Amino acid sequence: MKILFVGDVVGAPGRDMISQYLPMLKSKYRPECTIVNGENAASGRGITDKIYHQFLKDGADVVTLGNHAWDNKGIFEFIDEAKALVRPGNFPEDVPGTGLLFTKRAGVEVAVINLQGRTFMPALDCPFKKAEELVVKARERTPIIFIDFHAEATSEKQALGWFLDGKVTAVVGTHTHVQTADNRILPKGTAYLSDVGMTGPYDSILGMEKEAVLKKFITGLPVRFEVPNSGRTQLSACLIDVDKKTGTAKAIHRLLINEDHPFIAE
Ligand SMILES: [Fe+2]
Ligand SMILES: [Fe+2]
Repeated sequence: MKILFVGDVVGAPGRDMISQYLPMLKSKYRPECTIVNGENAASGRGITDKIYHQFLKDGADVVTLGNHAWDNKGIFEFIDEAKALVRPGNFPEDVPGTGLLFTKRAGVEVAVINLQGRTFMPALDCPFKKAEELVVKARERTPIIFIDFHAEATSEKQALGWFLDGKVTAVVGTHTHVQTADNRILPKGTAYLSDVGMTGPYDSILGMEKEAVLKKFITGLPVRFEVPNSGRTQLSACLIDVDKKTGTAKAIHRLLINEDHPFIAE
């Protein structure tokens, strides 16, 4: 079976890329399970009920989140009803939502876990301990376990990959918004990629207007970052080939679509 995972969708430009390319990617690669990280989908900060449903309409089976999960306050109105939405599992106990969900795809269950790093990020419960706990829970139902590890430090991401090698299908990083070229299958069969990259404005700094980010760096003055509303766009994703019986990954490929890396439909 194949799992398609699309990285951090940023604002309207990112959402437009999803509407335009997700159907084409699905008809080309025929993934049985499609997962989209939507933590920046609403103007770069959080997600709304409407956007969540649009992702499902466009072909996502599961939507993951990250450190921006609570930025759009409307989330508290719908997160507990949103059965295909997962937020970092190592957030404090008893906050709304879930860090582990199951989706039935092509006759088998796929477990999707979202975790957040804590190196150069807000203090949270230990992602390693929480991963162990959630993986035990997930394995009671399925060996196919996909982890979106939303973290800043590449070292922390690699550490989680090695920590879970042979225990999960994939550990794929999000949050840094730049696709890394280190896709590999770890020795015990876990697919790994430090960061899948961002889906949104191409001529930007991590999806935000470059002028504002430059001003912040050069002057140190407080600046509000906005998503540019015009210009070139990109989509970042990866495709994982999975042994349906064992949950072991057979291959992981990176996908990057922008003007310098055009999409070739087949
Ligand atoms: Fe992000
Ligand atoms: Fe993030």
